[in-house]
Amino acid sequence: MAILITGGTGFIGSFLAKELFTSTNEELILFDYIINEKRIKSLKDDPRISLIKGDVSNRTFLHSQLEKLTDFSTIYHFGSLMPPLTESELTDAFNINIQGTFNVLEFARLHNISQVVYSSSGAIYGPGVDLPVTEQSFRDPWTMYGVGKVCSEVLGSFYHRRKGVKFTSIRFPALIGPGRTGKGMTIFANNIIQYPAQGEKAICNVEEDIAVPLIYIKDATKFLASLHKREDIPEQTYNIDGVWIRANELAKYVQNEISDAIIEYDPDPELTFMLRSWSMMKGESNAIFDDLGYSPSYSPEEMVKDFILEVKTNPDYKI
Ligand SMILES: NC(=O)c1ccc[n+]([C@@H]2O[C@H](COP(=O)([O-])OP(=O)(O)OC[C@H]3O[C@@H](n4cnc5c(N)ncnc54)[C@H](O)[C@@H]3O)[C@@H](O)[C@H]2O)c1
Repeated sequence: MAILITGGTGFIGSFLAKELFTSTNEELILFDYIINEKRIKSLKDDPRISLIKGDVSNRTFLHSQLEKLTDFSTIYHFGSLMPPLTESELTDAFNINIQGTFNVLEFARLHNISQVVYSSSGAIYGPGVDLPVTEQSFRDPWTMYGVGKVCSEVLGSFYHRRKGVKFTSIRFPALIGPGRTGKGMTIFANNIIQYPAQGEKAICNVEEDIAVPLIYIKDATKFLASLHKREDIPEQTYNIDGVWIRANELAKYVQNEISDAIIEYDPDPELTFMLRSWSMMKGESNAIFDDLGYSPSYSPEEMVKDFILEVKTNPDYKI
């Protein structure tokens, strides 16, 4: 049997591949539009790893490539267009993030693949969501990125209820970790750690008291790997709140580890405003702990320490 990861050489996909490589004996098929070999350098030559370059929005190609392969136990669907491109390239956002999810679910149905795990986001909630946020809160996204997440969840629930594909969507806050790139709203939190760890100055583009909910990539991927072949998942959607940390708190943790770290602030007023009104995931949901036993093992200080060590000792995480 094999595990398919779409977006398999992206940030989350590559960390998950490393986790599943050790926690299972299955083959891993990493499907990605752009293959980032650096991220999977330690795995890529192993016979248990296959790389497929392709576009999840192209159903004919996706299905024909995967049909040639072995049986799949689980699909982790992470291939996605990311913000800010989702907000300017609406057709691509629709094709990749909505049609792409449909294509993956159809493949699962046609080939009796019993499990699809999806990475959703707090972006499914709009700025007007009532607090505290729970899994039952009204999904009313204001971004095309969030629209793609809601549509994917609704499609997944349909396949779960009516078509025999077990679907689980985990709504993550910001995930941070070594080597994350991109231009998303929360990338400042990553940059505050990443650049000093590689001996460079970090420029933080939000005001220093801005806080965002964070999860360390290693906690997230360990948890995602624990869902593989898991039968007792009562719900289809789960929120993970993350730990709210201010930019200046993160900077302090970094400076405790790297005394000469330079972290400067050059706030973008619009981004700061958007993040101040961000209610996403100000939650009070315990379902992820109660139903699925999610239990992060890194405190914020331990996360920063581990992140810095990884960047310093593994050149593949340099950006
Ligand atoms: N990083 C976070 O903080 C975060 C938080 C919540 C949810 N998520 C979700 O997790 C998933 C993975 O995010 P990530 O942080 O690893 O981002 P990432 O940009 O590192 O990975 C996304 C991957 O998708 C691939 N991709 C893009 N278009 C594709 C296409 N048409 N066909 C196949 N693959 C395609 C990219 O090449 C990339 O490898 C996404 O769905 C994202 O929305 C991420």
